[in-house]
Amino acid sequence: MDLSQIKSVSVICLGNICRSPMGEVVLRDRFEKYGLDIAVNSGGTGNWHIGEDANPRTLQVLRAKNYLVNHHAKQVDNSWFDKTDLFLAMDLSNRSNLLKLAGKNYAHKVLMYRWFDEDLSHLPQDHQDLEVPDPYYGTLKDFELVLNMVEKAADGFINKLRQDN
Ligand code: 4NP
Repeated sequence: MDLSQIKSVSVICLGNICRSPMGEVVLRDRFEKYGLDIAVNSGGTGNWHIGEDANPRTLQVLRAKNYLVNHHAKQVDNSWFDKTDLFLAMDLSNRSNLLKLAGKNYAHKVLMYRWFDEDLSHLPQDHQDLEVPDPYYGTLKDFELVLNMVEKAADGFINKLRQDN
């Protein structure tokens, strides 16, 4: 995919309270740092947490690394496909739900978030190793590991963008 035309990115997980808010915040940080004019938001495929702040442990690990967070959980729907250039799914079930919402016309806009990790970009989009594991029922350590994965792939995303521009 040619990233040079990308003006908006949506990061998608299940609840939009753990993984995708991290992706949103980290990508926004990188876009600002490199002067890239790309809008970023996030959403969940599920509706349970609409309007909620991010999970307390998401907030804790982000703030520990000095990221600013101001989050209200949202559910992705098919109206997003007109206005967003690229959807980044956190796991394969998010991807499959997004592809259902996208239909044939927009399926090309859906990629796995972690595919941009330079150590994983040789993998096909449906490979299990591209999943960012759901930390919701895990420990604070799981949230820290997720944030590390999210940062590594965000750095790969920026490198690829800068190559394509
Ligand atoms: P997320 O984590 O998809 O990374 O935001 C989850 C949040 C909530 C639930 C599952 C995963 N839940 O079952 O409510």
